[in-house]
Amino acid sequence: MILVSSSKRKNKLPRQEKVCIITGATNGIGKEAAMNLAEMGFTLGLVGRNPEKIDATCSAIQTKTGNKNIKFFQADLSLMSAVQRLAEKIKSTYNKIDVLLNNAGAYFADFGTTEEGFENTFALNHLSYFQLTDLLLDAIKATPNSRIVNVASNAHLGTNLNFDNLQGFDGYKGWPAYCKSKLCNIMFTYELARRLQGCGTTANCLHPGFVKTNFGNNNKTSVRMSLSAAKTVGAINVKKGARTSTYLASSGEVENVNGKYFYKCRPKDSSNNSYIVEHQEKLWELSEQLLS
Ligand SMILES: NC(=O)c1ccc[n+]([C@@H]2O[C@H](COP(=O)([O-])OP(=O)(O)OC[C@H]3O[C@@H](n4cnc5c(N)ncnc54)[C@H](OP(=O)(O)O)[C@@H]3O)[C@@H](O)[C@H]2O)c1
Repeated sequence: MILVSSSKRKNKLPRQEKVCIITGATNGIGKEAAMNLAEMGFTLGLVGRNPEKIDATCSAIQTKTGNKNIKFFQADLSLMSAVQRLAEKIKSTYNKIDVLLNNAGAYFADFGTTEEGFENTFALNHLSYFQLTDLLLDAIKATPNSRIVNVASNAHLGTNLNFDNLQGFDGYKGWPAYCKSKLCNIMFTYELARRLQGCGTTANCLHPGFVKTNFGNNNKTSVRMSLSAAKTVGAINVKKGARTSTYLASSGEVENVNGKYFYKCRPKDSSNNSYIVEHQEKLWELSEQLLS
């Protein structure tokens, strides 16, 4: 993990006060949310994995918004060792964290594992949210009125977690694994929100809608083609897709809202399964055990 670019507070915008960390900021919903928050004057710590995309994104945001208070951090978030180094670097760069927007995620149609031995979907979509949040939590909690926002999905509807096969080692199916990872995002948010109750930090999650992004493009041609066809017919553009993430990261309306699932900037019910407290606690414990 390297610090890619740094800036001095020379821009003409008012001095930024709020620091927001966004993962998956080089494309899609995360990049658009970064653009929105840069326009609002946030100081941004953006996380990406590809140096060329990082440079291009940084320039695009700075050119469009005039906000120079943007730093980019490079990390492969599917590797927990990289998440650890990232958290250290973030903590040594900022003296507070107002918002953590866990957004990076992907769909892996085929089974694969990271070099650390975790299944790809579970590692990137769930463990990276859990680990980065955990490692930054003291700094976030020390910042008044801070927020953690987790990008989940309506894809969680109709699925449940199998704690005996959480990572799909015993029979992997790509789409169900993705849906379960998004259920993990919601259950993690609810458990986190309960643990944060009364401490001045909130945790909420969201469904962005079906959004025309690069989502799924890491897969083989047949998968990409079917997703592309679906996106052409039914997906909203990324401006609309980033609205709820931006809203939860920045709006005063949700300053004291904790432990909710949002869609179109409004709270909505998630699946019945997501509210089972015993399962939320078990997911937390198992995640801790896997990362210890
Ligand atoms: N698009 C939808 O319809 C939809 C619907 C519901 C929920 N979501 C959720 O929205 C979030 C954002 O997805 P998106 O649609 O914006 O997809 P996207 O366009 O593919 O963007 C994903 C972002 O995550 C980054 N990323 C992927 N793997 C990474 C890794 N190993 N390490 C670090 N960064 C990594 C990507 O980096 P690169 O730029 O280098 O690829 C990119 O910046 C995901 O959590 C997804 O589950 C999306």
